[in-house]
Amino acid sequence: MTATLSPETIGACVFDAYGTLFDLRSATARCAESLGDRAEDLGRLWRSKQLEYTWLRSLMSAHADFWQVTASALDYALAETGLDDPVLRSKLMEVYLRLDPYPAAGDALRRLQEAGLRTAVLSNGSPVMLTSAVSGAGLHPLIGDLLSAEAAGVYKPHPAVYRLACDHLDLPADRICFVSANNWDAHGATAFGFVTVWVDRQSGTDDLLPGAPAHRVADLDALPGLFGV
Ligand code: LAC
Repeated sequence: MTATLSPETIGACVFDAYGTLFDLRSATARCAESLGDRAEDLGRLWRSKQLEYTWLRSLMSAHADFWQVTASALDYALAETGLDDPVLRSKLMEVYLRLDPYPAAGDALRRLQEAGLRTAVLSNGSPVMLTSAVSGAGLHPLIGDLLSAEAAGVYKPHPAVYRLACDHLDLPADRICFVSANNWDAHGATAFGFVTVWVDRQSGTDDLLPGAPAHRVADLDALPGLFGV
């Protein structure tokens, strides 16, 4: 593949966490026996409520950390799907702390690091959640910095969250490659000024929002190729 990004002009690759490096389906998969045929509905509703609550809380100036938002979204989803059960709830929250990484994540991070790029995670996840997910997946040697929206007190796609990466890495936005499988996040990051890669695993429809992602790949294994590595 022809390189379209250069490790000389891009100083760092910054990754979204949930849905990009970590597979959210692994949470419900580990409770498959208790969830039965409601696993998929519950997983989808949990995630959509979780994101909705981040956006609503940001608009309401009523921030709560991502652990609390994730728990509220789960409580809603369990009630809505008729699965209200405190033991199941604890188990699902516990597994959220150690989600499976996508199979291509480790190799992609390694190849980028070897090419001289700095790597970081920039996520809505609280610091405890991010540390747990990254070390549980064994990715900690491959990720230089864990940056949490918690430091901004607001959620993506608020520019204050994306700015954390510029401040922390001491790089201008156009020298940061931001990678997300969440299309709305890729738009927010592009609108902020990052060079953005949308990991489009489902061959989805691009959102009609400002900030169209500069690049689209089908999975993380295609990311190093954008840098010619
Ligand atoms: C994150 C959410 C958006 O990791 O998935 O920030």
